[in-house]
Amino acid sequence: QRIAVDQARVDKAGYRHFMAKEIAEQPTVVANALAAYIDEGGMPALPVDFTGVDRVVLVACGTASYACHVAKYWFEQIARIPAEIDVASEFRYRDPVLSPRSMAVFVSQSGETADTLAALRHVRGQVAQVVAVVNVPTSSIAREADCVLPIWAGVEIGVASTKAFTCQLTVLALMALQAAKARGTIDDAQIAAHVQGLRSVAGLMNVAIDGANAYPAVAQQLAQARDILFLGRGPMFPLALEGALKLKEISYIHAEAYASGELKHGPIALIDADVPVIVFAPPDGLFDKTVSNMQEVMARHGKVLLVSDAHGIAEAGEGVWATITMPSVDAVWAPILYAVPAQFLAYYTAVAKGTDVDQPRNLAKSVTVE
Ligand code: AGP
Repeated sequence: QRIAVDQARVDKAGYRHFMAKEIAEQPTVVANALAAYIDEGGMPALPVDFTGVDRVVLVACGTASYACHVAKYWFEQIARIPAEIDVASEFRYRDPVLSPRSMAVFVSQSGETADTLAALRHVRGQVAQVVAVVNVPTSSIAREADCVLPIWAGVEIGVASTKAFTCQLTVLALMALQAAKARGTIDDAQIAAHVQGLRSVAGLMNVAIDGANAYPAVAQQLAQARDILFLGRGPMFPLALEGALKLKEISYIHAEAYASGELKHGPIALIDADVPVIVFAPPDGLFDKTVSNMQEVMARHGKVLLVSDAHGIAEAGEGVWATITMPSVDAVWAPILYAVPAQFLAYYTAVAKGTDVDQPRNLAKSVTVE
């Protein structure tokens, strides 16, 4: 049963900023997004057809593009279907090779982003199906798609996208599971277990949000930094990109994200005692490699802020500057849960700096010009 979210409600409900309210709404809206697309038997039931589809092309801008970037890992690992991602502003100008066996997926909170809409128009007639994953089902992108998958996040006011991101991830995760079913890459029991894993993420987000008091002290120190680096491996790399974007948008601190393994190919030259390095690292098959990357940073006096669960934090050992402890989660769905610390770190740093969190300078909620 879907929990009702009042679409017209635009007050801060006692929160200091819309962004804080929208972060706190995530357990509810992620559960809504799941409920919208799971049938009574606990299986994904989206109105998309993967029959005959041999490639998924994902196109979006900004935060929505990072949701696509995470989803690429899911489509490829779970459904074994090749997935490409493009930022919409590049997509049509490089004249991408499309085929009638491709499914094109356009992800947009507003459904009005000019570049994403233009990219959708570019693929029309060249692909099997045009799918819109949007928060506004009456938007231009929704109207022009063959199939619309609303993300059920409710109205998002803060310019920095939060709950739309985690709802986009949720819908894309279910799409990947549906593709896996169509392609027979995993059996029904495994799909049901994954759906259960997604359901538990919505609950774990409550725990992550209840841990908000861990952030203000560390954010006070982050607010002093001129540059901050974010690192992650696998699907935590796009989460690092999202964390850096969020921080830049609302705190105006220069932030960059790298796949952890890229550190020694250049960015390590930036490391000194003044550069905090935020590492998103739930324990997974590559955790020990991430620990080595953290040691490389610490050996150069870099300040590592590790976001992991208690097990990961214990394994990382001494020398870490600060930690944020997350509940343990199935590594495959960790990007949804770890969006919360990415958002909180940006939010509390912006609050510490006293910037306009909901209306940051130079930015619009919806970018309707190219
Ligand atoms: C997110 O925090 C940004 N404000 C921005 O990157 C945004 O995600 C991007 O402009 C895309 O918007 P859309 O989802 O409405 O298409």
